[in-house]
Amino acid sequence: MIFTGLVGHPVKHSLSPWIHGHFFKKSGLKGNYQLFDISPKDFHASIDILKEDLIGFNVTLPYKQKIISKIDELDQSAEKSGAVNTVVKRGNRWIGYNTDGIGYVRSLEKEYPEVFSNQDINVLMIGAGGAARGIFYALLQNGIQNIDLTNRSLERAEQLAQDFSSNSKIYSLQDVLGQIPQYDLIIQTTSVGMDPNHEEKIFSLPPLREGVIVSDIVYRPLNTKFLLEAKRKGANLHKGHTMLLYQALYAFEIWTGKKLMVEGIEKELKTKLKGNDYVNR
Ligand code: ATR
Repeated sequence: MIFTGLVGHPVKHSLSPWIHGHFFKKSGLKGNYQLFDISPKDFHASIDILKEDLIGFNVTLPYKQKIISKIDELDQSAEKSGAVNTVVKRGNRWIGYNTDGIGYVRSLEKEYPEVFSNQDINVLMIGAGGAARGIFYALLQNGIQNIDLTNRSLERAEQLAQDFSSNSKIYSLQDVLGQIPQYDLIIQTTSVGMDPNHEEKIFSLPPLREGVIVSDIVYRPLNTKFLLEAKRKGANLHKGHTMLLYQALYAFEIWTGKKLMVEGIEKELKTKLKGNDYVNR
């Protein structure tokens, strides 16, 4: 039996037990995925106990950095993004990964493979937090170099570019508007627009380049205001639920060594999220 789960606080709204339940069923492996809501005062003792019982687990807020003190080694993905969302026991050592960036890239590649055959494309990343770092790193790893940044805090964007030795252009959320038509791929990585604040969007989009792909990593709601506006302006969309699925798939692969196909699950996840989408309420 393969015991896995999610550590965080709170965790009750997580879709991960549902997703990993599907993966276990599909893989034919016997396993389970449980939620562990751990209060900060119990963090150290609880992780020690879980490390006895589980072969690996996911980590979410507020422990994505704190978990680093409880493991032995960081994979490059975790080191570069500065956060761990998946840990696994290999022999006697606990190793930390970050599956968000690779999950994002795999989900994008599945839907828009052409992005990765033209490495000269111009990318704009909105945001400079943990998620942005993970995606930035994974894009660089996949040969995409022209990635500019816009963020509310310019210092944070500058730090990100410096940490990756990138010559990204950096814009404020206002100044970037005049630049938008030059981008082929726009990636919204902030939490702006997430339920319950689904009426918000990071900014109003000016006219877009023809054929542009606009991506939002927010998946609740499935159709964010930002994506709906992008669609009205003719963009091809890449929605957040696919990153959720592929980052989970990569974690499953790390734990079990199994690579699965996820088309059927993707449709079901979309239907599940659509039920909560304010557009459809
Ligand atoms: P995550 O790990 O989800 O990326 P994070 O590291 O806290 O979370 O980063 C959140 C990102 O969303 C940052 O880019 C943040 O901008 P700042 O660096 O200026 O804080 C952005 N963000 C969050 N709330 C925002 C808001 N109301 N307006 C604009 N940007 C916001």
